[in-house]
Amino acid sequence: MNVAHLIDEFKELLEKENKQANLFQLKSQFLGKKGKLSTFSDQLKSAAPEERKELGKSINELKGKLENLFNERLEKLVEEEILQQLQKKKIDYSYRKKNKIPDSEMPGTHVVSEVQREIESIFSRMGFMILDGPHVEDEFHNFEALNIPANHPARDMQDTFWFGDKKHLLRTHTSTVQVRGMKMQEPPFRFVGPGKVFRCERTDASHEMVFHQLEGMMVDKDLSVANLIYFMKVLLKEIFQREVEVRLRPGYFPFVEPGFELDMKCLLCSGTGCSFCKQVGWVEVLPCGMVHPEVLRQGGIDPEIYKGLAFGLGLDRLVMLRYGINDVRLIHSGDLRFLRQFGQ
Ligand code: PHE
Repeated sequence: MNVAHLIDEFKELLEKENKQANLFQLKSQFLGKKGKLSTFSDQLKSAAPEERKELGKSINELKGKLENLFNERLEKLVEEEILQQLQKKKIDYSYRKKNKIPDSEMPGTHVVSEVQREIESIFSRMGFMILDGPHVEDEFHNFEALNIPANHPARDMQDTFWFGDKKHLLRTHTSTVQVRGMKMQEPPFRFVGPGKVFRCERTDASHEMVFHQLEGMMVDKDLSVANLIYFMKVLLKEIFQREVEVRLRPGYFPFVEPGFELDMKCLLCSGTGCSFCKQVGWVEVLPCGMVHPEVLRQGGIDPEIYKGLAFGLGLDRLVMLRYGINDVRLIHSGDLRFLRQFGQ
């Protein structure tokens, strides 16, 4: 069989297939151990030693070409499949009317929005401004200004959704709002920045690709960790309507020094250990710390004069604790049976 013919045949067959499984089958028919390409390899064995080098080279080239054809077709097919799924998922805006679903059956405000608004109002009573920031960010605001330069191992702590230009990304944390907030105003100031964050992670009962944080930042002349603990205790007490016990552990984040993890005694088991707190009795709710001088400088603030404190509240975690929800995926499932329990 001649080489050009083999390539054409493979190409033609690939084009005809529109299922991934069939593509892989074709691949093994051509490139597998007993595939069509292997007849060429058999020729190699019987070839005269002086011909072997050339023949080997051309077989490798052929293999490379077939593999490229396969990869190109697979990529196109995956793209087509995504497009098809998107088409199918079109929202039917007339569904409610057609099915005569009354208002009383519609879910109200989403539970995360509800808790977010509550927390915003607690903070605004304590004099915090509420700031917003874009979901699509650049490297500077998500990493560099926060003391995480390129190649810093901390970049791997948060799996990032990058855009094709490799410069823009979906923000991995609300700390981006720290950078924007500092540039907006003169100290002293205090603000919170709630919103969605995105991480390219495998999901399970306690991990989601899209979740919610509420960033907090305060810059003033005399600030210490004691202020931070005070605000957190007030907040948690108001949210849970009872006294909560907290503890601090050291935690590493390049944009704070010192950095902490603030844990709260598990409300589901009162600290005796349950599946929610993974039998520890405590739940991480709040990474926090004193803002690193370099980060203040990036935000145009003189660290010799001012100090900053920052925290990143995990909103979904709080919602789960408050309502005893044991799977974070429910929050974004859009399942009406779940949603209707809230926001009435
Ligand atoms: N941005 C950090 C994260 O998402 C949390 C954090 C915020 C830590 C503020 C310290 C201070 O992991």
